[in-house]
Amino acid sequence: MKMPFYFLPVAFLACTTLSCVRTENKAESYEKKIDKLMAEMTLEEKIGQMSQIDPGMAGSPERLKEMVREGRCGSLLNFFGMEEVNEIQRIAMEESRMHIPLLIGRDVIHGYKTVFPIPLGMAATWNPDLVKKAFRISAVEASSMGIRWTFAPMIDITWDPRWGRIAEGCGEDPFLASALAAAMVEGIQGDSLNDPTALAACAKHFAGYGFAEAGRDYNTTYITEPVMRNVVLKPFKAAVDAGAQTIMTAFNDLNGVPATANEFLLKKVLNDEWNFQGMVVSDWGSVPEMINHGYCRDEKDAAAKAIRAGVDMEMATNTYSANIEQLLEEGVVTESMINDAVRDILRLKFRLGLFDNPYVRPEAQKVILDEAHLEHARQVAAQSAVLLKNSGQVLPLPAGIKSIAVIGPLADAPRDQLGTWCFDGDPSRSVTPLEALKNELGPGRVHYAAGLEYSRDKRTEGFAAALKAANRVEVIVFFAGEEWILSGEGQSRGEISLPGAQTELIRRLAATGKPLVMVVMAGRPLAIEEETRLADAVLYAWHGGTMAGPAIADLLTGKVSPSGKLPVTFVKGAGQIPFYYYRKNTGRPASDESWTPIDSIPVENPQSSLGYRSFHLDYGYTPLFPFGYGLSYTQFEYTNLELSGASIDRNGSLTVRATVENTGDRDAHEVVQLYVRDRVGSITRPVKELKGFQRILLKKGEKAVVEFTLGAADLAFFNGKETLVEPGEFDVWIGPDSSQGLHGEFIVQ
Ligand code: BGC
Repeated sequence: MKMPFYFLPVAFLACTTLSCVRTENKAESYEKKIDKLMAEMTLEEKIGQMSQIDPGMAGSPERLKEMVREGRCGSLLNFFGMEEVNEIQRIAMEESRMHIPLLIGRDVIHGYKTVFPIPLGMAATWNPDLVKKAFRISAVEASSMGIRWTFAPMIDITWDPRWGRIAEGCGEDPFLASALAAAMVEGIQGDSLNDPTALAACAKHFAGYGFAEAGRDYNTTYITEPVMRNVVLKPFKAAVDAGAQTIMTAFNDLNGVPATANEFLLKKVLNDEWNFQGMVVSDWGSVPEMINHGYCRDEKDAAAKAIRAGVDMEMATNTYSANIEQLLEEGVVTESMINDAVRDILRLKFRLGLFDNPYVRPEAQKVILDEAHLEHARQVAAQSAVLLKNSGQVLPLPAGIKSIAVIGPLADAPRDQLGTWCFDGDPSRSVTPLEALKNELGPGRVHYAAGLEYSRDKRTEGFAAALKAANRVEVIVFFAGEEWILSGEGQSRGEISLPGAQTELIRRLAATGKPLVMVVMAGRPLAIEEETRLADAVLYAWHGGTMAGPAIADLLTGKVSPSGKLPVTFVKGAGQIPFYYYRKNTGRPASDESWTPIDSIPVENPQSSLGYRSFHLDYGYTPLFPFGYGLSYTQFEYTNLELSGASIDRNGSLTVRATVENTGDRDAHEVVQLYVRDRVGSITRPVKELKGFQRILLKKGEKAVVEFTLGAADLAFFNGKETLVEPGEFDVWIGPDSSQGLHGEFIVQ
């Protein structure tokens, strides 16, 4: 018998201790209990366990109860309310023949009632501990309503900000996303799965979903195996290593085979290579959608292909329940496939302690929107905001400021600031920037005129009032952005500019000559080149959740210095996509000297050597802001890069350190980043790869030596045939973002 995966770290660390023996005994006793149940279960009951039901599927609440009583359902999603959950669990436990509890799942993606910033915003904190705590809080709140499984973390890497679901993930980088994936899983699952506040995590969407063509959601993906293994799969491996109990398959087809029946993903990688011991669930309807993909003839064929690939549970459709019996009779699927799936599901229910206690205590709900939770949400939102520009030190607002104008469609938009994938957040509990600034500065100093009612508003009637407010004050703060519904699932955009008449209003506000601060609250990195030029300061605050307002007020007034860093490259316009920092150098890399801006080309220029480098005539070759970028109200100086040696062997490691000094006049956090470049490889290698980061607090005038250990193993990559560390010369940088830093070099022998 294999030990369940999530116990492995314990086994490695302390196999001789009592805890290890206990762990083994527990796992063994689960297997025995599962054997016992399986021996008594009918085929129908087994199929029931493999079916996850949305109440809408059942037709009526009574029919749903009936299904549970009959053992036709192993899990519910979108079923909520503490009393409702307790009642349906009671039916499962007391009135169904096998007394098997239900697994209640829900999308708790970035908070339950206390809503945290969208995951992309959380990624901008570069603070796994803070993020872990946010997910712990979400789990505590959600479990108090009977939810014991969340479809999070969403860890799809993407290079495409047109894709609406960029909001839900951790951005473009596999290293940062892996660190956050592990933190999220740990937060969701807590210290012990059978603690009543633990939820099973679900790493999704496995895999490649973020590479949908042109960012159109659900679209085809073609991803080479090196990109799969060096980029896309990395965070999933980290989630599995952190003990994630479940994996959700993706909607997309990957290199011609839908992820929901993709044996490369589910068998080769997940099972054979990673030895995943948890449960695999399809995405909503992704089994029958394989017919639309043109991969399956009908629902029976779809069910067969998903089961054969290893999808244990079907979400929200009934191709399993309608077809498994016949598929077994025909020998297309085997009894052992069904048994394996059911065992995975039952094991999870045992691990979560559901057989012993499937109910929720009413007192548990006292935790919802607890003060400490809100305080944490404020802190996460503050650390997630990225200061992109601050000319003339417009920010922070001077202490004695007498008047500001608050303008823009996002200044007082309680639902929008909660962001996408937010089923349970309550807009009436959102504290908006307008409210928070009034609290902070006193209502008399804040002159509010939205100018535009919502982000897509094209009407200019409100401009006059906005300009009037702007002309009366010392500083204009414009809250730009997107409504929540413009990002998230199915909400992809072809252009990623500020919607509606926002840019026009910004132009007019800039023309007043007053200092203009732009705060952007959006679900994706928008292309804001012109607006950034027009504004004196730009703070990118994403959709920051329940406490976005107070967090933004803390930043604007200088109570907190901005410390977020971009988890994605910001492009100048959608035509620059894809643009990610770990791109390849190409045979003709561009430079300032080689770029010929489109307007500099003489009319009727002859065919000549203008450029011939890898750039766009209009955009050039650099992004608007690079990955890792973010300013502070203080300055940090990087000096003194030191490497512990000039070379390492392929099993060795190296320490790389630098001194970072806060040379400004306020205490602040800095995220110190370590990048490498493998100069020559058996396949071409990226120009830079993040290999480490540390968020440090430096008091004004303080300096610290920041040290990273870089193992040769960290330099391994998949070259199309194998994963290996190749000897050769490497560059290394320690710096404040991916475009700059102190440079050194070393050799791997
Ligand atoms: C999404 C998943 C989500 C599921 C259940 C699907 O449409 O792709 O991410 O977990 O619905 O709500």
